[in-house]
Amino acid sequence: MAIIIKTPEEIEKMRVSGRLTMEVLNMITSYVQPGITTTELDGICHDYIIKVQKAFPSPLNYKGYPKSICTSVNHQVCHGIPSNKILKNGDIVNIDVTVMKDGYHGDSSRMFIVGKPSILAKRLVEIAYECLWAGIAQVKPGAFLGDVGYAIQRHAETRNCSVVRDYCGHGIGRDFHEDPQVLHYGKLHTGELLQPGMTFTIEPMINAGRHEVKLLPDGWTVVTKDHKLSAQWEHTVTITEDGVEVLTLSENEVIPLLI
Ligand code: MF3
Ligand code: CO
Ligand code: CO
Repeated sequence: MAIIIKTPEEIEKMRVSGRLTMEVLNMITSYVQPGITTTELDGICHDYIIKVQKAFPSPLNYKGYPKSICTSVNHQVCHGIPSNKILKNGDIVNIDVTVMKDGYHGDSSRMFIVGKPSILAKRLVEIAYECLWAGIAQVKPGAFLGDVGYAIQRHAETRNCSVVRDYCGHGIGRDFHEDPQVLHYGKLHTGELLQPGMTFTIEPMINAGRHEVKLLPDGWTVVTKDHKLSAQWEHTVTITEDGVEVLTLSENEVIPLLI
């Protein structure tokens, strides 16, 4: 497979699906409280996407995935399946939303801290968010995909966190997952040369302990091998003539200052 460069008309459609994805995450925020189950969060997002947005939750039935969003709690790294598990004070949860509208997908995830966080959990969630933006900051025509991975890895590892190797970001458009693979580690000046019209996700999974992960018997849920906490944030971006446009950006999002 090759990287599909999008036309301006396609980018406009991806702006719409990106905005809808962002709006689902904004909508669900106030529901993420101690006592709610992840299945309830899934149901609220599902109904909103179908009934209000008149769009489709891309994960539902994707390769047999049974729900409309992914909810990954504490040491779950990604692809957690919503269940009757009740969120409790101090949990951290990633909610990953993908919306398809008019044939194009938008994909974004955020961390939510349930009730009062531990200092360690808060620090990990913040570092993972900075890692996302350290990656986004590299995106412009003429840069390399390896520059994105390098910036993320450096930010994480200089803060004693590790980067998950076994899962990555991805091209996105008419397909949920397209080329290229967007690694969240790497070397400067390696990998694909970035060009205007490319659309992909950046979605670093950052662990408090070691980077190794394992897949649970449900076939979806990925957890840290050492059972330490993991955090992830995701945006869908497109490369413009002179930089980057974040298609899933929220109007009230605070972009971190990176040193
Ligand atoms: N949204 C995830 C991603 O960022 C993929 C979820 S696939 C699913 O790529 F089937 F688990 F939903
Ligand atoms: Co993604
Ligand atoms: Co996602």
